[in-house]
Amino acid sequence: MASVQVLTATSVPTYTTSLRVEEPLVKYRQIHPTFGAEATADFSQITQDLVDEIKRGLAKYGVLVFRKTGLDDARHVEMSHLFGDLDDIAPFVNGLGQKNRLSSDYLFDVGNVNPDNTVMQPGGMRDLLLRCNYHFHADSAFNPRRAGVSLLLAHELPPEELGGDTEFADTRSAYESLSPERKEEINDWVVMNSQLQCRRNANTDENGVINPLLATDEFDPMKHRFGKHKLPRIAAHAHHVQGMDVDEGQKKLKELLEYVDNPKFTFRVKWQDPGDLVVWDNTCVLHRAIPGGYAGKYKRDLRRTTVHDMGPQAWGLNEVGATWRSGLD
Ligand code: OGA
Ligand code: MN
Repeated sequence: MASVQVLTATSVPTYTTSLRVEEPLVKYRQIHPTFGAEATADFSQITQDLVDEIKRGLAKYGVLVFRKTGLDDARHVEMSHLFGDLDDIAPFVNGLGQKNRLSSDYLFDVGNVNPDNTVMQPGGMRDLLLRCNYHFHADSAFNPRRAGVSLLLAHELPPEELGGDTEFADTRSAYESLSPERKEEINDWVVMNSQLQCRRNANTDENGVINPLLATDEFDPMKHRFGKHKLPRIAAHAHHVQGMDVDEGQKKLKELLEYVDNPKFTFRVKWQDPGDLVVWDNTCVLHRAIPGGYAGKYKRDLRRTTVHDMGPQAWGLNEVGATWRSGLD
């Protein structure tokens, strides 16, 4: 008769410590076939390990969408410092005599809220300047040192049906889809970027007439310095291509931007709740705000921190260490 071996408690090996599966710091669910992920993480503990994992996620996905992070201004800024050197708005506040509504000069105010906490009305100067965000761009491409990671946190949102999404475009897959000849043609283009180019274009009508408020030398890109970066920085701040006739360069840049504006390369993030955080890498994706019916009626209060590019291409073809800012020189 076969004997039955009975496992007693003492004969069961104790694997519990050596085989415990660590929970990943960030979990990802891809959004679009080529890029972007909805991601989850615990933001109650902000550690360098968490930030390093988010950076790994960004290298893979380009854009990460975290819901209801529970972050506030102070912790948003604190976490951003762990990504690298932060860009700040002090030169713009001082240069344009604007009042900073927010508690820190590391917070870029991209919302439609006035310093007195009322909803911004369409047509005022700040509204005109913010319209630049409706066009695909990479943050700070107009400055000598370009941006790496941006972290945009929602504080107050309009009713969902009134719009205000943010759209992203995958420039890596768009570039890869070009023919070898086209890649070769554009690879070495040095693009002359200006904050003012985008602001002017965003306020020019179909007949080419610029809003008179911006039709001054102060807003003329040719009267200011350009942030010079290689073409992969192509976007709405691009004014022309170095060494190419201005009109021809503008036409070719427009063609490339139109090529990227295709669902094959884009997806939209619907903001849902305060605390939603979208993090992206400006060196491989473009982004833009989608206008909506909320304008002039409901607050859309989004605040961004901007990490300088910490890599070797950060300064493009500009003088390394330059601190001038586009439009303020
Ligand atoms: C930005 C930006 C887009 C938006 O914060 O840099 O462009 O949807 N935002 O507000
Ligand atoms: Mn932006």
